[in-house]
Amino acid sequence: MCNDWFENLLRNVELKPEEVELILMLEESVRKTLSKAEKQSAAHKLDHLLRVTKNALEIAKRESIDVDYLVLISACLLHDVDSPYDRKREHVELSARKAEKIMNELKFPKEKVEKVLKVIRQHSTETPVEITENEAKVLFDADKLDGVGAIGIARVFMSAGQRSMSIKEAIEWYKKKMEIAENMLQTETGKKMIKEKMDTVLNFLDRLERELSKYHQA
Ligand SMILES: [Fe+2]
Ligand SMILES: [Fe+2]
Repeated sequence: MCNDWFENLLRNVELKPEEVELILMLEESVRKTLSKAEKQSAAHKLDHLLRVTKNALEIAKRESIDVDYLVLISACLLHDVDSPYDRKREHVELSARKAEKIMNELKFPKEKVEKVLKVIRQHSTETPVEITENEAKVLFDADKLDGVGAIGIARVFMSAGQRSMSIKEAIEWYKKKMEIAENMLQTETGKKMIKEKMDTVLNFLDRLERELSKYHQA
Protein backbone atom coordinates (compact mmCIF):
# COMPACT_ATOMS: atom_id res chain seq x y z
CA MET A 1 0.00 0.00 0.00
CA CYS A 2 1.46 3.33 -1.02
CA ASN A 3 1.17 6.40 1.08
CA ASP A 4 0.07 9.26 -1.23
CA TRP A 5 1.01 11.96 1.24
CA PHE A 6 4.54 10.59 1.41
CA GLU A 7 4.84 10.10 -2.34
CA ASN A 8 3.76 13.69 -2.89
CA LEU A 9 6.34 14.85 -0.39
CA LEU A 10 9.06 13.28 -2.53
CA ARG A 11 8.02 15.16 -5.64
CA ASN A 12 10.38 17.99 -6.54
CA VAL A 13 13.10 16.55 -4.30
CA GLU A 14 16.44 16.00 -6.03
CA LEU A 15 16.27 12.22 -6.23
CA LYS A 16 16.96 9.74 -9.01
CA PRO A 17 13.97 7.50 -9.91
CA GLU A 18 15.74 4.47 -8.36
CA GLU A 19 16.31 6.45 -5.15
CA VAL A 20 12.59 7.31 -4.98
CA GLU A 21 11.82 3.58 -5.32
CA LEU A 22 14.24 2.75 -2.53
CA ILE A 23 12.76 5.39 -0.22
CA LEU A 24 9.21 4.17 -0.88
CA MET A 25 10.28 0.63 -0.02
CA LEU A 26 12.00 1.94 3.09
CA GLU A 27 8.87 3.77 4.26
CA GLU A 28 6.87 0.58 3.79
CA SER A 29 9.42 -1.44 5.73
CA VAL A 30 9.54 1.10 8.60
CA ARG A 31 5.73 1.11 8.67
CA LYS A 32 5.68 -2.72 8.99
CA THR A 33 8.46 -2.76 11.59
CA LEU A 34 6.69 -0.21 13.79
CA SER A 35 3.30 -1.90 13.49
CA LYS A 36 4.86 -4.87 15.31
CA ALA A 37 6.84 -2.87 17.89
CA GLU A 38 4.66 -3.08 20.98
CA LYS A 39 6.95 -1.09 23.26
CA GLN A 40 7.67 1.72 20.80
CA SER A 41 7.37 5.14 22.46
CA ALA A 42 4.00 6.70 21.59
CA ALA A 43 5.80 9.90 20.62
CA HIS A 44 8.15 8.14 18.22
CA LYS A 45 5.84 6.22 15.95
CA LEU A 46 5.61 6.54 12.15
CA ASP A 47 3.76 9.89 12.34
CA HIS A 48 6.80 11.43 14.07
CA LEU A 49 9.20 10.02 11.47
CA LEU A 50 7.07 11.36 8.61
CA ARG A 51 6.72 14.83 10.15
CA VAL A 52 10.48 14.95 10.75
CA THR A 53 11.02 14.06 7.08
CA LYS A 54 8.77 16.93 5.98
CA ASN A 55 10.46 19.35 8.40
CA ALA A 56 13.88 18.25 7.17
CA LEU A 57 13.00 18.80 3.52
CA GLU A 58 11.74 22.29 4.34
CA ILE A 59 14.84 23.16 6.38
CA ALA A 60 17.23 21.81 3.71
CA LYS A 61 15.41 23.78 1.00
CA ARG A 62 15.26 27.06 2.92
CA GLU A 63 18.82 26.70 4.16
CA SER A 64 20.21 25.88 0.68
CA ILE A 65 22.47 23.36 2.38
CA ASP A 66 24.27 20.71 0.36
CA VAL A 67 22.74 17.36 1.30
CA ASP A 68 22.37 13.89 -0.14
CA TYR A 69 18.58 13.57 -0.13
CA LEU A 70 18.59 9.77 -0.13
CA VAL A 71 20.69 9.85 3.03
CA LEU A 72 18.70 12.66 4.65
CA ILE A 73 15.26 11.11 4.05
CA SER A 74 16.43 7.62 5.02
CA ALA A 75 17.93 8.95 8.25
CA CYS A 76 14.69 10.82 9.02
CA LEU A 77 12.64 7.64 8.53
CA LEU A 78 15.02 5.49 10.57
CA HIS A 79 16.39 7.72 13.33
CA ASP A 80 13.92 6.50 16.00
CA VAL A 81 12.91 3.20 14.39
CA ASP A 82 13.64 1.28 17.61
CA SER A 83 12.67 3.54 20.53
CA PRO A 84 11.09 1.52 23.34
CA TYR A 85 9.53 3.94 25.83
CA ASP A 86 11.48 2.41 28.72
CA ARG A 87 14.91 2.46 27.03
CA LYS A 88 15.14 6.10 25.98
CA ARG A 89 18.87 6.48 26.48
CA GLU A 90 19.60 3.43 24.35
CA HIS A 91 17.30 4.38 21.48
CA VAL A 92 20.02 5.84 19.25
CA GLU A 93 22.08 2.64 19.19
CA LEU A 94 19.00 0.41 19.02
CA SER A 95 17.66 2.45 16.09
CA ALA A 96 21.02 2.47 14.31
CA ARG A 97 21.23 -1.32 14.56
CA LYS A 98 17.70 -1.86 13.30
CA ALA A 99 18.26 0.73 10.56
CA GLU A 100 21.32 -1.15 9.34
CA LYS A 101 19.34 -4.38 9.17
CA ILE A 102 16.46 -2.75 7.27
CA MET A 103 18.74 -0.98 4.77
CA ASN A 104 20.72 -4.16 4.14
CA GLU A 105 17.52 -6.10 3.52
CA LEU A 106 16.51 -3.47 0.95
CA LYS A 107 19.99 -3.63 -0.62
CA PHE A 108 20.93 -0.01 -0.01
CA PRO A 109 24.38 0.79 -1.44
CA LYS A 110 27.00 0.15 1.26
CA GLU A 111 28.31 3.74 1.34
CA LYS A 112 24.77 5.08 1.82
CA VAL A 113 24.18 2.67 4.73
CA GLU A 114 27.37 3.92 6.42
CA LYS A 115 26.40 7.55 5.95
CA VAL A 116 22.81 7.09 7.19
CA LEU A 117 24.09 5.31 10.32
CA LYS A 118 26.53 8.15 10.99
CA VAL A 119 23.69 10.68 10.68
CA ILE A 120 21.39 8.66 12.99
CA ARG A 121 24.15 8.50 15.63
CA GLN A 122 24.38 12.32 15.58
CA HIS A 123 20.67 13.08 16.05
CA SER A 124 20.01 12.97 19.76
CA THR A 125 20.61 15.05 22.86
CA GLU A 126 20.47 11.75 24.80
CA THR A 127 23.87 10.79 23.41
CA PRO A 128 25.54 14.10 22.51
CA VAL A 129 28.30 13.79 19.93
CA GLU A 130 29.80 16.31 17.54
CA ILE A 131 27.45 16.92 14.63
CA THR A 132 29.65 16.82 11.56
CA GLU A 133 27.33 15.87 8.68
CA ASN A 134 25.07 18.37 6.90
CA GLU A 135 22.30 15.75 6.85
CA ALA A 136 22.67 15.36 10.63
CA LYS A 137 22.42 19.13 11.14
CA VAL A 138 19.15 19.20 9.22
CA LEU A 139 17.79 16.07 10.95
CA PHE A 140 18.70 17.44 14.38
CA ASP A 141 16.68 20.63 13.88
CA ALA A 142 13.82 18.87 12.05
CA ASP A 143 13.51 16.44 14.98
CA LYS A 144 13.51 19.20 17.59
CA LEU A 145 10.88 21.10 15.59
CA ASP A 146 8.49 18.19 16.22
CA GLY A 147 9.03 18.73 19.95
CA VAL A 148 7.55 22.23 20.01
CA GLY A 149 4.20 23.79 19.08
CA ALA A 150 0.92 22.02 19.84
CA ILE A 151 2.28 18.76 18.42
CA GLY A 152 5.35 18.94 20.64
CA ILE A 153 3.20 19.48 23.73
CA ALA A 154 1.03 16.49 22.82
CA ARG A 155 4.09 14.30 22.23
CA VAL A 156 5.79 15.25 25.46
CA PHE A 157 2.77 14.48 27.61
CA MET A 158 2.08 11.20 25.76
CA SER A 159 5.65 10.17 26.34
CA ALA A 160 5.63 11.26 29.98
CA GLY A 161 2.37 9.39 30.56
CA GLN A 162 3.78 6.22 29.07
CA ARG A 163 6.60 6.45 31.63
CA SER A 164 4.20 7.13 34.54
CA MET A 165 5.41 10.68 35.15
CA SER A 166 3.25 13.21 36.97
CA ILE A 167 2.23 16.46 35.24
CA LYS A 168 4.77 18.34 37.34
CA GLU A 169 7.56 15.90 36.46
CA ALA A 170 6.61 16.17 32.79
CA ILE A 171 6.84 19.97 32.91
CA GLU A 172 10.31 19.84 34.48
CA TRP A 173 11.46 17.23 31.96
CA TYR A 174 10.09 19.25 29.04
CA LYS A 175 11.76 22.46 30.20
CA LYS A 176 15.13 20.75 30.60
CA LYS A 177 14.80 19.06 27.22
CA MET A 178 13.96 22.35 25.48
CA GLU A 179 16.86 24.16 27.13
CA ILE A 180 19.39 21.54 26.00
CA ALA A 181 17.95 21.37 22.48
CA GLU A 182 17.70 25.15 22.03
CA ASN A 183 21.41 25.56 22.71
CA MET A 184 22.31 22.87 20.21
CA LEU A 185 20.27 23.92 17.17
CA GLN A 186 22.28 23.64 13.98
CA THR A 187 20.68 25.83 11.30
CA GLU A 188 19.36 29.38 11.10
CA THR A 189 16.15 28.10 9.48
CA GLY A 190 15.65 25.56 12.26
CA LYS A 191 16.17 28.24 14.91
CA LYS A 192 13.64 30.52 13.22
CA MET A 193 11.01 27.79 12.74
CA ILE A 194 11.36 26.58 16.33
CA LYS A 195 11.16 30.12 17.73
CA GLU A 196 7.82 30.59 15.95
CA LYS A 197 6.38 27.56 17.74
CA MET A 198 8.00 28.19 21.11
CA ASP A 199 5.42 30.78 22.21
CA THR A 200 2.69 28.12 22.08
CA VAL A 201 4.72 25.94 24.44
CA LEU A 202 5.70 28.70 26.85
CA ASN A 203 2.14 30.04 27.07
CA PHE A 204 0.78 26.56 27.65
CA LEU A 205 3.32 25.67 30.34
CA ASP A 206 2.72 29.00 32.06
CA ARG A 207 -1.03 28.39 32.08
CA LEU A 208 -0.55 24.81 33.27
CA GLU A 209 1.73 25.86 36.12
CA ARG A 210 -0.68 28.61 37.21
CA GLU A 211 -3.56 26.11 37.31
CA LEU A 212 -1.47 23.54 39.19
CA SER A 213 -0.34 26.11 41.77
CA LYS A 214 -3.91 26.27 43.08
CA TYR A 215 -3.75 22.63 44.11
CA HIS A 216 -1.79 20.43 46.48
CA GLN A 217 1.66 19.86 44.97
CA ALA A 218 2.13 16.11 44.72
FE1 LIG B 1 15.65 10.16 18.80
FE1 LIG C 1 13.00 11.84 16.66
